[in-house]
Amino acid sequence: MYAALKPLLFRLNAEQAHHLTLRLLQLAYRSGLLKRQQPANHKAGQTTLMGLTLPNAVGLAAGLDKNGAYIDALAALGFGFIEVGTVTPRPQPGNPRPRLFRSAAHQAIVNRMGFNNQGIDALIDNVKKSRFNGILGINIGKNATTPIEKAADDYLICLQKAYPHASYITVNISSPNTKNLRALQSEDELTSLLTRLKNRQAQLSTQQGHYVPLAVKIAPDLTPEQISIIAEVAQQTEIDGIIATNTTIDKSSLGQHPLAAEAGGLSGLPVRSKANQVLTQLAEELNGCIPIIGVGGIMTGADAATKQQLGASAVQIYSGLVFQGPTLIRDCIQAMHQTDATF
Ligand SMILES: Cc1cc2nc3c(=O)[nH]c(=O)nc-3n(C[C@H](O)[C@H](O)[C@H](O)COP(=O)(O)O)c2cc1C
Repeated sequence: MYAALKPLLFRLNAEQAHHLTLRLLQLAYRSGLLKRQQPANHKAGQTTLMGLTLPNAVGLAAGLDKNGAYIDALAALGFGFIEVGTVTPRPQPGNPRPRLFRSAAHQAIVNRMGFNNQGIDALIDNVKKSRFNGILGINIGKNATTPIEKAADDYLICLQKAYPHASYITVNISSPNTKNLRALQSEDELTSLLTRLKNRQAQLSTQQGHYVPLAVKIAPDLTPEQISIIAEVAQQTEIDGIIATNTTIDKSSLGQHPLAAEAGGLSGLPVRSKANQVLTQLAEELNGCIPIIGVGGIMTGADAATKQQLGASAVQIYSGLVFQGPTLIRDCIQAMHQTDATF
């Protein structure tokens, strides 16, 4: 069905196409046209991640469903887990449009959405309304108007509100579209932020009687030294998982294409090799102590299997869905399962 719709969607501007796709998906789900996808032998792809049992290791990356408004319909596509957000304490409009651009020739997207979202309370209402009882990650961030010195307060508000409703929570410190956000990846900032969040997680776990893992999402534009520091801080603070990676600000691979001139983060095929480099180094340095979710540039099943071989416990996809459609999910599940079986 997606193959038939794609020519129409690619004639619309990217943000219109995004909203139309989600609305059509919701319609297909509600009308019963979209049957919940499940592998014939559904135990075959089952895996564990941060103490959670996933039906398969292929997840939806953050940013596609920022408000958690399409959880059931997206879950019906067969994902092993769904990550919603990034959500901020207060609603915010994001950057002015246009702010989303794609190039089919490069299988690439540039976005400078800027955490457009309806705020954590609206997201939680949507989560409560959904019927999904699988693994749900809630990805949290800071409002654009919150000074960077007060960023931890925003993350703490979101952590507190998301905690009862999330299977895991992702601390997003790697979007290039919120001023200074990525500075939170430096040693002192990261140690301080993660320590505060881990302390609050411990309190919430005691109060609410269940443990919700905390993952941190990092950028692909880090030097090997910075990656080592993050691996060290993650272990010291006992973070539960690392998501590698977000979009890149390096657009050199696009050459003279007009997409290269757009401000924002680049995703899809051009981020694949950078994301894989970060994954490889992290996997070597963490040596299995902390699970890694591999994301960035998965356009085929083989790309997902490569991330698994490089050390990812699970993967997430976003841009690949735009260019390949939802059959990519099944391709990734199958390719990862085959790779698994050969180990
Ligand atoms: C339009 C768009 C919006 C995104 N918004 C978010 C976001 O809000 N939070 C986040 O952590 N990542 C966000 N991302 C990054 C993706 O989750 C993913 O890390 C990145 O795109 C690399 O994966 P991909 O190559 O499969 O797209 C966004 C990506 C795109 C294309």
